Amino acid sequence: MLNFDDDIVTPAQPQSAVRTAHADQPAAAASTAPDVGHAAQVAGYRAQMHEQGLPVSAAATEEELAKAAASRVRAEDKRVINGGADVNQLVPFKYTWAWDKYLAGCANHWMPQEINMQRDIELWKRPDGLTDDERLIIKRNLGFFVTADSLAANNIVLGTYRHITAPECRQYLLRQAFEEAIHTHAYQYIVQSLGLDESEIFNAYHEVKCIRDKDEFLIPFINTLTDPHFKTGTPQADQDLLKSLIVFSCIMEGLFFYVGFVQILSMGRQNKMTGAAEQYQYILRDESMHCSFGIDMVNTIKMENPHLWTEAFKDEIKALIKRGVELEYAYAEDTMPRGVLGLNATQFKEYLRFIANRRCQQIGLDPLFDKAENPFPWMSEVMDLKKEKNFFETRVTEYQTGGALSWE
Ligand SMILES: [Fe+2]
Ligand SMILES: [Fe+2]
Repeated sequence: MLNFDDDIVTPAQPQSAVRTAHADQPAAAASTAPDVGHAAQVAGYRAQMHEQGLPVSAAATEEELAKAAASRVRAEDKRVINGGADVNQLVPFKYTWAWDKYLAGCANHWMPQEINMQRDIELWKRPDGLTDDERLIIKRNLGFFVTADSLAANNIVLGTYRHITAPECRQYLLRQAFEEAIHTHAYQYIVQSLGLDESEIFNAYHEVKCIRDKDEFLIPFINTLTDPHFKTGTPQADQDLLKSLIVFSCIMEGLFFYVGFVQILSMGRQNKMTGAAEQYQYILRDESMHCSFGIDMVNTIKMENPHLWTEAFKDEIKALIKRGVELEYAYAEDTMPRGVLGLNATQFKEYLRFIANRRCQQIGLDPLFDKAENPFPWMSEVMDLKKEKNFFETRVTEYQTGGALSWE
């Protein structure tokens, strides 16, 4: 299910008109002007109330009835952006793909402390346990990831969430935000377990150029969404939102994580740092879902707002993805100055082109690179992790909620 061949979930029907109601607008206010089928809507409302044995005041005016009928959420009124339907009502469902991903995310729940780090600690402390190049990979990985997931979480909570008007998508974003917190926790847990210099690792995003460059590329897109004055509802603003969503799903979660994931998972495949590799394995599974959810959301917004997907906009997105490939390749070169673990930077040039082509295809763009094969087909197997099967054959981690409640 979670691999590069993920099918894009069928998006919603195209929107007949662009709505201007903003996400923060109260639902009742947003729906005071019912658009189509006014009389049918009122009649349907009367019939529904009658069926349920609920009173409809005989004295109610047509206008009051229309308002009451219109305030009931109809699935067809929902939109991923600029929707006027009440965002506090999860059902009736429209975007079932988002709800399904929320359920899948919950089913995959895990916590960093469940994973035994003892073998990693022993290996790290043994002077001949790892080579200098292997240690560099671990430090650079953690240097990027300890802050990357906080960026992702802040982008969701302070930016994306308030601009999305589909409650099913908001429900998934809430789950995703917590998963980002778990990921930051996992990276911190590895840093702490290995006794690494925390200030070195946590400041790497300021101090290590290849990490700083990736973050500086992302920050303007976070700033767009977190700007308190930013509101959707115009073609320009809606394109800005769409661009930020594509940058996060296709470039950050869908590209910037992959050199680091391959490096640590390769270590695990060679029986080194298996605890860290197991943590990364669970994180990769979550991130695949985040990426896939973001792409579904992008495609649904495109379907509902086809006027946003202009040739100029597509060119802009392609240029951003190309830039993302360059930045991630620079990271590969910096973290692997020599071949290590059977990996080298050149393989990653091919891999990143392969992923970039896949991301383009997933959002309906032509491939950016002529020929690009996947040099790491085993990554799909890792992404396909099922809870009953552990890729590194360490222990099976089956999540359980923390003990039954007792009233004694
Ligand atoms: Fe994450
Ligand atoms: Fe994520």
